[in-house]
Amino acid sequence: MLYTEKVLDHFNNPRNVGEIPDADGVGEVGNAKCGDIMKMYLKIQDGVITDVKFKTFGCGAAIATSSMATEMVKGRSIEEALQLTNKAVMEALDGLPPAKVHCSVLAEQAVKAALADYYTRLGIDPEPLVGRLSPSCEEEGPCCS
Ligand code: FES
Repeated sequence: MLYTEKVLDHFNNPRNVGEIPDADGVGEVGNAKCGDIMKMYLKIQDGVITDVKFKTFGCGAAIATSSMATEMVKGRSIEEALQLTNKAVMEALDGLPPAKVHCSVLAEQAVKAALADYYTRLGIDPEPLVGRLSPSCEEEGPCCS
């Protein structure tokens, strides 16, 4: 089978879908090649992510990885969320087919983009804390084929 049970589960029953109207940070990343878009909303209180929602217009792997990423950062501190890697998301889903690895990068980048937005709103330069975001997969290598 191409996709693991966990990927199929998160694709069929994605967790934390939606928007947070009064979010403290919103991140949107897109994959230039396939045109898929992921939007992540964070509610942050005392340095902890108290709520998170996402909307993904994209492939099944993009939906499954964003769903898993929201579960992995919910209730965590900003510092912990910043440690989230696409690799960890993939491992939590028991893997992805090689051609879909890049979809998991979108999920990582969406979380980071939302945290960058949070810092920007506070008047803090996010780049030293969040790092440089590369929302376009062109920079990261093959994907979406
Ligand atoms: Fe575009 Fe998966 S994110 S194919």
